[in-house]
Amino acid sequence: MSDGKNLSVEEKRELLKKLMKEKAAKAASSPAPAAVSSNATEDKSIYTQFDKFPEVQTLAAQFQTLQMLHVDNPYFRVNEGIVNDKTRINGRELISFSSYNYIGLSGDPRVTQAAKDAAEKYGTSVSASRIATGERPIHRELEQEIASLLGVEDAIVLVSGHATNVTVIGHLMRAGKDLILYDALSHNSIIEGCVLSGARRIAFPHENWEELDRILTEIRGDYERVLIVIEGVYSMDGDIANLPKFIEIKKKHHALLMVDEAHSMGVIGPHGLGIRDYYGIDGNEVDLWMATFSKSFASCGGYIAGKKILIDYLKYNTPGFVYSVGISPANAGAALAAAKIMKAEPWRALKCQENAKLFLKLAKEKGLNTGPSKDSAVIPVITGNSAHALILADALFKDGINVQPILYPAVPDNEARLRFFITSDHTEDEIIYTINKVAEHLNRIRKDMADVTFPKSMIG
Ligand SMILES: Cc1ncc(COP(=O)(O)O)c(C=O)c1O
Repeated sequence: MSDGKNLSVEEKRELLKKLMKEKAAKAASSPAPAAVSSNATEDKSIYTQFDKFPEVQTLAAQFQTLQMLHVDNPYFRVNEGIVNDKTRINGRELISFSSYNYIGLSGDPRVTQAAKDAAEKYGTSVSASRIATGERPIHRELEQEIASLLGVEDAIVLVSGHATNVTVIGHLMRAGKDLILYDALSHNSIIEGCVLSGARRIAFPHENWEELDRILTEIRGDYERVLIVIEGVYSMDGDIANLPKFIEIKKKHHALLMVDEAHSMGVIGPHGLGIRDYYGIDGNEVDLWMATFSKSFASCGGYIAGKKILIDYLKYNTPGFVYSVGISPANAGAALAAAKIMKAEPWRALKCQENAKLFLKLAKEKGLNTGPSKDSAVIPVITGNSAHALILADALFKDGINVQPILYPAVPDNEARLRFFITSDHTEDEIIYTINKVAEHLNRIRKDMADVTFPKSMIG
């Protein structure tokens, strides 16, 4: 076969077309799956009836459990305005601990105005992938601002935080050659990205860098690329990763390190600039900085920041970027304004940290189990029983406090909890009132309802 060197332009074009066709055909087909049912004669119509799907039946059982426990459904409650330290639900004002508006920038008039200005100038959609005709000046302004916040060369901005993890991890890591090691408490978007990639994936025990080191010492040699994925602040427990240790390990084993800063950027560190700021680390020590715009950035979207060569590559190749529309002008405008305010007004992060410290101190004084949360704005109160968490959240709601219960199967039943997101807007009075109410109700529930649990069939 010709190596293509002596072909005419026409012949080269034809060859290229043929190769592209073959590649598309390969991508479009997949091998037949192994048979999943030995019963080829069964009535297959059940597979078209959603009420027969076991997972749909599980959801129905969960609704029944709510009724059995006499609590209102805590999900999909309609918040009728901006949510900061307060919210309005069914016309009633409540103290809110349920939003990621950590530094109060969603609802800040400057951020709102920036979203309006961007929509007015560039429209409500960029109506195309950025690689085609979707590129607008505000995209690059935002990416450069993000890169400057992290002290790295460049950044790429995508339409969703979740999709950022899925598509970037899914694309960079390869089946049959590469290895991903991710913290066992990683967010769903990280795990989905690992699965999509097809690379070998191993969850190392939460924050256990010694175990990570051990695994790498044993098997690093069997793989080409190795990616370690951790989070700045863990979203269920509110603890902060030991970043210096993970940097040491990634260097020792020639691995790439990715840090998801969804809950740390804008919140922790002496300037509120995330885990890099918290430890005083050079931005170039981490290969992929990731965060979402849905939390401190008061918008919607996600970013990866790092070396220019990586960012350029991702911009021309990542499926979730190339085959998806560019972030909307309003979202880019809001995130850009928030990034600038985040840098100019570190007092917001410091106030959020101070509020979290007070919350944690008072909770501990009352004997509440707040897990390993420290120096972050995520504070769990672990009830150790899903039914107790639900009943507690319901009682607090009636007392004017909105906080989300986290139940089995999102966490093991014995780690069921209420998860409090602290913001810079919370007042001392709101925090004192809340802790008193949590302690009062939880003591009562534990005393009077010690034997109330989720049905055994539901918690496995
Ligand atoms: C750690 C982490 N990563 C990624 C995401 C996804 O971000 P988004 O909700 O903005 O899509 C979240 C969302 O809560 C998260 O907690």
